[in-house]
Amino acid sequence: MRVSVFIATSLDGFIARTNGDLDWLPEAPEDHGYDAFMDTVDTVVMGRHTYEKVLTFGAWPFTKPVVVLTSRPMIPPPDGAAVTAMHGTPSEIVAALAATGVQSIYLDGGVTVQRFLAAGLLDRLIVTRIPVLLGSGLPLFGALSTDLRWRHVRTASWPSGLVQSEYVRAEAP
Ligand SMILES: NC(=O)c1ccc[n+]([C@@H]2O[C@H](COP(=O)([O-])OP(=O)(O)OC[C@H]3O[C@@H](n4cnc5c(N)ncnc54)[C@H](OP(=O)(O)O)[C@@H]3O)[C@@H](O)[C@H]2O)c1
Repeated sequence: MRVSVFIATSLDGFIARTNGDLDWLPEAPEDHGYDAFMDTVDTVVMGRHTYEKVLTFGAWPFTKPVVVLTSRPMIPPPDGAAVTAMHGTPSEIVAALAATGVQSIYLDGGVTVQRFLAAGLLDRLIVTRIPVLLGSGLPLFGALSTDLRWRHVRTASWPSGLVQSEYVRAEAP
């Protein structure tokens, strides 16, 4: 099972304003590799807060099955959207999905990413930095009990100022 993150942050590492707003994200016409990335995953796994944000977008944007992580009753998805709810530890979630044949997950949401990182279950990190400082907001990264080392794969930049870096988890030396 491969667990990947494809996410945008401000220069100071926030994925949303404190109230969840994404108004600072540019609507750049450039191709930042999202579709190519989506081709590499078979299921999207997201935290409840991210799911509830996506519901406000209007049109449901995912063609792949989506799993929402939540300990509460889930707000029903739009008609036709393939959405199920799960809860448990990151390792329980990975094991349950693997048992159904899932091989590659797109993981989304700050708290959710932090929980999988703390459990040592994140394999690939693609972060697109937006050239803005927000000063405060919801962070991508949080506290860890041990250092996690990554191998840099590539960095790309676009005329809009977006800088995207891909890392894979470094194996223990
Ligand atoms: N910049 C970007 O590219 C980007 C990408 C994604 C999201 N965002 C933004 O980030 C914000 C959401 O991020 P966030 O850090 O607040 O939260 P999040 O990760 O989307 O959701 C966290 C919540 O999901 C539930 N959850 C997570 N793991 C779970 C597990 N293993 N078992 C059961 N429940 C679990 C918990 O809620 P309950 O248990 O209470 O249900 C938890 O509080 C939104 O504003 C979204 O738009 C931005």
